[in-house]
Amino acid sequence: MSGDLARRSVVAGLAAAPMALAAVGADQLSLTRPQCLDQAARGRNRYFGAAVRADQLGLDTALRECVLRECGWITPEIHMKWDQLQPRRGWWTFTAADALVVFAAQNNLRLRGHTLLWHQSTPRWVASALRRRRDWRIVSDHLREVVLRYRDHVAVWDVVNEPLDGRVGRYPRPNVFLSAFGPGYVARALREAAELAPDARLAINEYGFEYVNADEDERRAAFLSLLRQLKAEGAPLHEVGIQAHLDLGKGPTYPEVLKPFLQAIADMGYRISITELDVREREFRLPVRERDRRVADAVRAYLDIVLEVDAVDGVSTWGIADRYSWLQEIAIRGRHGPNRGLPLDWDFRRKPMFWAMRDALNA
Ligand code: G3I
Repeated sequence: MSGDLARRSVVAGLAAAPMALAAVGADQLSLTRPQCLDQAARGRNRYFGAAVRADQLGLDTALRECVLRECGWITPEIHMKWDQLQPRRGWWTFTAADALVVFAAQNNLRLRGHTLLWHQSTPRWVASALRRRRDWRIVSDHLREVVLRYRDHVAVWDVVNEPLDGRVGRYPRPNVFLSAFGPGYVARALREAAELAPDARLAINEYGFEYVNADEDERRAAFLSLLRQLKAEGAPLHEVGIQAHLDLGKGPTYPEVLKPFLQAIADMGYRISITELDVREREFRLPVRERDRRVADAVRAYLDIVLEVDAVDGVSTWGIADRYSWLQEIAIRGRHGPNRGLPLDWDFRRKPMFWAMRDALNA
């Protein structure tokens, strides 16, 4: 990437700031237990990462230092999505995604390419163009432009995000790609991405598998059916991303349900990453200590189950500090205080969820 990139970067500070690791408090140093999440994960040949935004990383030194201290991987929360890269036809805005690529390269962080095709981040001009004319070249052009630009920097691509129907949990989700090209669009996108980036690991990424209820029971079955179908077709799929947005209102996670589901994915030969772990709270009037305990217990219970599956390569949280969690958007709409569903609190202090993750990753 050319040197003028750093100058053009919306977050030049991000590319130029000293990347020294934050000094970890002396009280946290221990010669026996890993103190940072990626360090704990690496001890078991796994990784820890987090979703980040270029603007927040560039502007918030404390956030940047926490990411550098805790993470071995990063995922662009929004900047590699189609609606952020090409909001209008022919008008590409790569600067923020480029800045994250520079940040990852400068700090030896691995990068997850999130995400090439997703109904929710498809620009309006694409949807209207595909409704007028089922022209796959619109998709091909996007895949080519983005994958060729970043293929030397992205370790795993979320080629298709959330292909299951959000309402009834069956495949395929009704979306503009299904309408235009039929259910085969998933395999077609995987094949084109594989041609463009033969060395990259290709994934599909999905949510809604953590709990026992009619909807998620159906989603797990539908997802396994889709994976079997892609395997039968010989689609170049290497990994499955399990988003893992936990929800304290949905009850416990059951090992006897979750582990066989993940093991069935692994038995098909797919690797697995937990890609968007966070916890949606439901009881905001409880004392913070109780709220944090419930979040930590749910995360520990979940990770103790999933980390028993050898095919699970790593865990990423969707953000690392409550201050920047997407769940605050829901909190604001719900008129309750900030959600406390990430490892670090509003002021980047480690919470019980952090220690629960550290201990689970290092178990
Ligand atoms: O950039 C525009 C800005 O120009 C505009 O003024 C503003 C108000 O309309 O919107 C800004 O874009 C927003 C973007 O976040 C950046 O803030 C989008 O409207 C908003 O929809 C987008 O939300 C993101 C969402 O994905 C859609 O891309 C969330 O922050 C992000 O956390 C969320 O992440 C998803 C994963 O990709 C997939 N799994 C679920 C997860 C949570 O929904």
